[in-house]
Amino acid sequence: MDHFHYRDGHLYCEDLAVADLADRFGTPLYVYSQAAILGQLAALQAAFAEVEPLVCYSVKANSNLSILRVMAEHGSGFDVVSGGELYRVGLAGGRSDRTVFAGVGKTDGEIAAGLDAGVLMFNVESEAELDAIARVAGSKGVRAPVALRVNPDVDPKTHRYISTGNKESKFGMDVDRSLALAERSRGLESVRMIGVHMHIGSQITTTEPYAGAAGKAVDIIAGLRAMGHPIAWFNMGGGFGIGYRGGEARPVEEFAKAVVPAIKATGCRLAMEPGRVIAGNSGILVSRVLYTKQSGEKRFLIQDAAMNDLIRPALYESFHRIWPVDVPPGLPAPPVDYESAIEGTEPWDVVGPVCESGDFLAKDRALPPLGRGALLATFSAGAYGMVMASNYNTRPRAAEILVDGSDALLARRRETLEDLVEQERAALMNRGAATPG
Ligand code: LLP
Repeated sequence: MDHFHYRDGHLYCEDLAVADLADRFGTPLYVYSQAAILGQLAALQAAFAEVEPLVCYSVKANSNLSILRVMAEHGSGFDVVSGGELYRVGLAGGRSDRTVFAGVGKTDGEIAAGLDAGVLMFNVESEAELDAIARVAGSKGVRAPVALRVNPDVDPKTHRYISTGNKESKFGMDVDRSLALAERSRGLESVRMIGVHMHIGSQITTTEPYAGAAGKAVDIIAGLRAMGHPIAWFNMGGGFGIGYRGGEARPVEEFAKAVVPAIKATGCRLAMEPGRVIAGNSGILVSRVLYTKQSGEKRFLIQDAAMNDLIRPALYESFHRIWPVDVPPGLPAPPVDYESAIEGTEPWDVVGPVCESGDFLAKDRALPPLGRGALLATFSAGAYGMVMASNYNTRPRAAEILVDGSDALLARRRETLEDLVEQERAALMNRGAATPG
């Protein structure tokens, strides 16, 4: 069931017309479907049921507190990569004993916060980090639960910026170094090595890299146990790809089939850190057309969402489906294939008001002629959208709405200009006070 759907040419999120939300809350606007989010969580839990998975939703994908709250209420754990994300999980009522603390550069303060909260385990990314965790835990007189992040050296076949599982990645350690570290940390008083973690990349659309990684995990886990480490968890990370264009994603059941036999062979409990597959297609970005203009052969559709709202197209050249919220008569709602010829459309560059040529949501995109004030939906924007937004060009960040049936929760109000200058205003005042006369 698609929770973003057209009825008589008008886009709905669950039971609410998106145009009404735009009128009520303004644009640019992020709109999320609660049913879509929970549907994805349930699909993962069902697909991996045989191995009783602990789904640790990857907070980085979309960290809005209302989304974290809903996830926590439905049994989700969390994957955090900073003290800030851990703070959010606490505020949202998430359970820290279902939270894994990942990230390649944890500070002593963050390690201490994780220990105080009682996280399920720290994903350890280097020898030096294990030393730091041992030291901080030792100073508190506690034992830190850790999982070693191992690079299985498989190629996830995804964009180079979001590929992590190869041998020369900044993340984790290769197999030999992981085993050497495990050997040398035998008998460490303040650390308990209870898991193996692998995250091989993001937006992965084939199952083979996971099967390869899980296969390697079986031997690594056996090796660690032989050293006396009580390995009870295999954390397969996140990375399941979604359909940005349409059908490129694999159903989660296929990923489950690829790894469950290996997990069973280890006798471990399975943890996973999905982000995009939960939030990505559960959100859209709604914008309003400001102007249209033509330069040479190029047509530009200038609308009020920009690279500061959604940076993925500029940063990764990523493709997001874009279609009018209210579809002009005679056009499909929505097209089956956005990349082939669509009658009644012309190619447009969909751009924002930011002063950079890289400020675009799409290039040469088939769209019907649209006038000032028309609304556009940019799909698959629920993950790595708002969380990567900035205030570049002193643009207030968008509002976020969480839809539940026919209810719309303002999950984050639009920023005001006052919000944007607040931290700097005091400096002007102080300077004023210090000025003689
Ligand atoms: N676990 C770890 C250790 C990660 O580094 C990541 C993502 C995840 C889990 C969640 O991965 P997911 O299930 O969402 O693929 N900003 C980029 C994506 C960066 C992903 C970073 N790590 C984008 O917009 O495509």
